[in-house]
Amino acid sequence: MSPPEGRYPAVKAQLLAAPKTWLVTGAAGFIGSNLVEALLRLDQRVVGLDNFANGHKRNLERIQTLVEPDQWQRLQFNEGDICSLETCRRMVDGVDYVLHEAALGSVPRSLANPIRTNETNISGFLNMLVASQDAEVQRFVFAASSSTYGDHPGLPKVEDRIGRPLSPYAVTKYVNELYAEVFARCYGFPTIGLRYFNVFGPGQSPDGAYAAVIPLWFAGLLHRQTVFINGDGESSRDFCFVANVIQANLLAATTQEPEALNQIYNVALGDRTTLNELFHMIRERVGRTLPAALDMEPAYRPFRDGDVKHSQADIRKARRLLGYAPTHRVAAGLDLTTPFYLGE
Ligand SMILES: NC(=O)c1ccc[n+]([C@@H]2O[C@H](COP(=O)([O-])OP(=O)(O)OC[C@H]3O[C@@H](n4cnc5c(N)ncnc54)[C@H](O)[C@@H]3O)[C@@H](O)[C@H]2O)c1
Repeated sequence: MSPPEGRYPAVKAQLLAAPKTWLVTGAAGFIGSNLVEALLRLDQRVVGLDNFANGHKRNLERIQTLVEPDQWQRLQFNEGDICSLETCRRMVDGVDYVLHEAALGSVPRSLANPIRTNETNISGFLNMLVASQDAEVQRFVFAASSSTYGDHPGLPKVEDRIGRPLSPYAVTKYVNELYAEVFARCYGFPTIGLRYFNVFGPGQSPDGAYAAVIPLWFAGLLHRQTVFINGDGESSRDFCFVANVIQANLLAATTQEPEALNQIYNVALGDRTTLNELFHMIRERVGRTLPAALDMEPAYRPFRDGDVKHSQADIRKARRLLGYAPTHRVAAGLDLTTPFYLGE
């Protein structure tokens, strides 16, 4: 049995005492840059890879302002593409743990350009897997997705009950899981897949056609632009603050429990927040600095293709096998995210 606060404090202490070398792909993206920051704060050596397809130099610059100068020196960032096997091989050289985040996210992007999404999310993923296995890294942890649940109606979502994929993006993320499983079976290569559910936090970009809902709404409220809600606002998601995702990655990379390996885990809170509730929470927080935002109302428009009405994770498997214990609920996560969008 893990203690009530989980394995995380012990894992952090262990890493501080004996630093490791980590490769974070997608290091200039939202989740990747938060992982890099957390690892540097723990005095780890970090190799970062990103081709800036969707990531930003400003995310790297932000890390530099948040960590100590000697911690910043421990980051070796590389601009490069996971679609090159040669690049992947160079990146994994001498690495203990791989946290593979690089991908083209967004369901609508994949509907608009399935070929590009497939190249990055499947061929690029396979390159990283092959390079990591050949280099005998100790653990390959990868970003899977709740989109794999597809049209399965069950709630909360349990890892082994999935439906048919609803988008090309969902296909790619499911194929990642299948490849990881086959690499475990055929080559004995240890992987862990983390099915993230609607992650949010500092560093998530509000720019571009495929931005996620939380950054879009912060930006809309700040700039007094219309905030759209797809559907009636009563659809719900298991919004997960990025600190919980960081915890899951560190636990997955370091677990020595044979039972915990070669598994897929939900990473979320295990709660449901409706879009209407979320809008009010964000508006209240922006309103503390900009009272004019408190008068703004959302505009409702039709549901999007490929969206499901409700999503909520069952996180018991991650609790039991990884010792995962989320530290931030949605409100606390939004409190920590608001200053990022307000530029404070
Ligand atoms: N944010 C979420 O809610 C969420 C939910 C489920 C799964 N995920 C997964 O988590 C991972 C990180 O997501 P994110 O929200 O940080 O997205 P993000 O777009 O901010 O980060 C992805 C990063 O990967 C980089 N990248 C894309 N193609 C690349 C390539 N060919 N070579 C090298 N780098 C490349 C991008 O430039 C970007 O910086 C992705 O795999 C995504 O599918 C995210």
